[in-house]
Amino acid sequence: MKKQEFKQRREQLMRQMGAKCIAILPNAPSRQRNRDIDYPYRPDSDFYYLTGFGEPESVAVLVPQREHGEFLLFCRESDPKKEAWDGAMAGLEGAKADYGADDAFPITDIDEILPGLLENRDRVYYAMGCNEDFDQRVMGWIKLLRKQSRSGVHPPGEFVALDQMLHDMRLFKSAVEVKTMRRAAEISAAAHRRAMACCRPGMYEYQLEAELLYSFQAQGARSVAYPSIVGGGRNGCILHYIDNDKRLKRSDLVLIDAAAEYDYYAADITRTFPVSGRFSRAQREIYLLVLAAQQAAIAAVQPGNHWNQPHEAAVEVLTAGLIELGILKGRLNRLIENESYKKFYLHRTGHWLGMDVHDVGDYKVGDEWRVFEPGMTLTVEPGLYIPANSKRVAKKWWNIGIRIEDNLLVTRNGHEILSHGVPKDPDEIEALMAAETAESSL
Ligand code: GLY
Ligand code: MN
Ligand code: MN
Repeated sequence: MKKQEFKQRREQLMRQMGAKCIAILPNAPSRQRNRDIDYPYRPDSDFYYLTGFGEPESVAVLVPQREHGEFLLFCRESDPKKEAWDGAMAGLEGAKADYGADDAFPITDIDEILPGLLENRDRVYYAMGCNEDFDQRVMGWIKLLRKQSRSGVHPPGEFVALDQMLHDMRLFKSAVEVKTMRRAAEISAAAHRRAMACCRPGMYEYQLEAELLYSFQAQGARSVAYPSIVGGGRNGCILHYIDNDKRLKRSDLVLIDAAAEYDYYAADITRTFPVSGRFSRAQREIYLLVLAAQQAAIAAVQPGNHWNQPHEAAVEVLTAGLIELGILKGRLNRLIENESYKKFYLHRTGHWLGMDVHDVGDYKVGDEWRVFEPGMTLTVEPGLYIPANSKRVAKKWWNIGIRIEDNLLVTRNGHEILSHGVPKDPDEIEALMAAETAESSL
């Protein structure tokens, strides 16, 4: 992403913040995995959204209308010895030249410099409660200013959560963001196709996971967007199953919820398909029902409709279908009202999608569901999960767990399905699986 994109975001945010205020955004801390090994570093999404800066131990400060520069970056100084081991760091010069900071300071000097920046500012925009260590430091700087009040310094009187403004900005994706998300979805879809083509009875779930991971990385996505779920049979009914260590049985379905993060943007795709390559009659019946629910929900993603409409559409189709199959008994309206479907459909139909897989942005404005507008991106992911021994449910339905999840962009006239690159029609899935060899591409 170009420097200009981040600059525009900072400018937009600062326009909304107004004068006499300051925003402080610490980057995410590194996390230790074990002994002297850290987890791969992932910057905080809010921080990265505004800076494009991916190094740990950094803090961004925005001071609208400050004469000597509005965007300040605290970061690590260049250190040739360290860089010989760990690779290049931006350093103070890089922070200015490559990331557009008006000024850059060593992170080790932050306690000396930040109190001065807070002086005589009325409002501080800061995400309190997200990083306890940093909260303490911010409080320390405020205390320091209070002590100086007799010399005419006044500490800021107001702390404001940055979320409201910043997360509303993040909810609406720019053209470049959409392009990146399209790519994340394309990469993820290709990986799902590969998994379908590679699947054989007797494989371990982690072997299918390995095909996905290989495909993500080989296409340039360096991380998953979230831990991959590969659940055969009964494991497909466990919503957050990530053990992925059981064998895939010929007679089972396998549910794969997996996607790549590409350039800090997530995809989030689920497909469910038969391990044998052929749906049984019972599996196909439930599958077609979930697919119909998904199609009804997708049709409801339109500007002007509100957030809950896709969910309502999915619930109606699922409940009616469950009655038709004899799995639920009673009148449609009554069963929807008393939420009988929740026995088989425990989650909601989607969430915002973006830099975070469960992305930021309000789902309600006041008491009202948010209305869809062009530029919003979300998932649509209904499912049905019928574990073994489900009471009053015929045995033929047991251990069927199905979810179908796609990624959508709200457009001016309706929506675009970003994850269209992997089939979900059962005949198309069977055709792909029946093809002689796994795709030799990715
Ligand atoms: N993969 C997480 C979700 O579907 O929400
Ligand atoms: Mn998912
Ligand atoms: Mn999802």
